[in-house]
Amino acid sequence: MGVMILTEIDHIAIAVRDLEAAIEYYRDAFGAEVHHREIVESDGVEEALVKVADSYIQLTAATRDDSPIAKSIEKRGEGLHHVGYRVDDCAAALEAMVAAGATPIDEAPRPGSRGTTVAFIHPKGSFGTLIELVQE
Ligand code: CO
Repeated sequence: MGVMILTEIDHIAIAVRDLEAAIEYYRDAFGAEVHHREIVESDGVEEALVKVADSYIQLTAATRDDSPIAKSIEKRGEGLHHVGYRVDDCAAALEAMVAAGATPIDEAPRPGSRGTTVAFIHPKGSFGTLIELVQE
């Protein structure tokens, strides 16, 4: 048994076709306001983050057809896309996950939105869940 390295659920990412419609729905249903909005050009996504306590709901839409989000929606429809686990040290967490048998998508940590450092882990080998390690 190692030391617990997860400090918080950073975000749950929901893939949506129409970001404006999703934002409006969350506003109408929950009174939720967007806390942060960002286009991540390298990933081909636009994110709208709704803050819930110290975590976020990340509504995510594709900005181009070859974006991973566009492909996911094409394959599986809209819905839960990945879970972001917050860690203090993304590189150490990635190393620990790989040592535990996980299949990394990112071989090394890279920049994410909000100035974070992130690394993705493949759902295959992680019980069907795409995992993102997020260091703030
Ligand atoms: Co994410």
